[in-house]
Amino acid sequence: MRVALVRPLLRHMSNILAIYPGSFDPITNGHFDLIQRSSRIFDHLIVALLTNAEKQPLFSVEERVEMLEEVTRDMENVSVGTFSGLLVEYAVQKKARAIVRGIRAFSDYEYEIQMALTNRKLQPKLETLFLMPAEEYAYISSRLVKEICRHGGSVKGLVPPLVERRLRKKVVSTIDEV
Ligand code: PNS
Repeated sequence: MRVALVRPLLRHMSNILAIYPGSFDPITNGHFDLIQRSSRIFDHLIVALLTNAEKQPLFSVEERVEMLEEVTRDMENVSVGTFSGLLVEYAVQKKARAIVRGIRAFSDYEYEIQMALTNRKLQPKLETLFLMPAEEYAYISSRLVKEICRHGGSVKGLVPPLVERRLRKKVVSTIDEV
């Protein structure tokens, strides 16, 4: 009886929440691969979208949240959130223990280390964990996906199908506006 009561308590106490932050403009199959991998490691994962990035996004915050929610709909321990300001403050507010970031090539390394060490300086108890996407996604980036689309190329297999449709529509409407 005692053991039966204590186990769920211990389980609750060891619940590890992680945050996977980014711009997700738009979410690619590389991002999705990392979400899947992280959801198998952590008890709960929040995919957190930065809303006040300096760069001008192609998709609005609402559109990006919609796409993230749609592609993670069947993942029970994954939720989607938004934040502005410092990532570590959002992480503390959510009681997160870890930040997840993807590392594709060596070129990512410098930027990622700089960010991870800055976050550690600001919040020493928060760990950053780097995960590698599957090899077939190792070269994909949101920037390249948008570029391919702008020039009329196919992004099939690089982004989830719903993102592919949205990208096509977005590019057509952007051309119409010109
Ligand atoms: O997908 P991205 O654009 O590479 O994600 C970058 C992101 C959102 C993780 C990063 O810009 C961020 O955390 N911004 C919030 C501001 C912050 O906390 N800055 C200090 C750490 S460098």
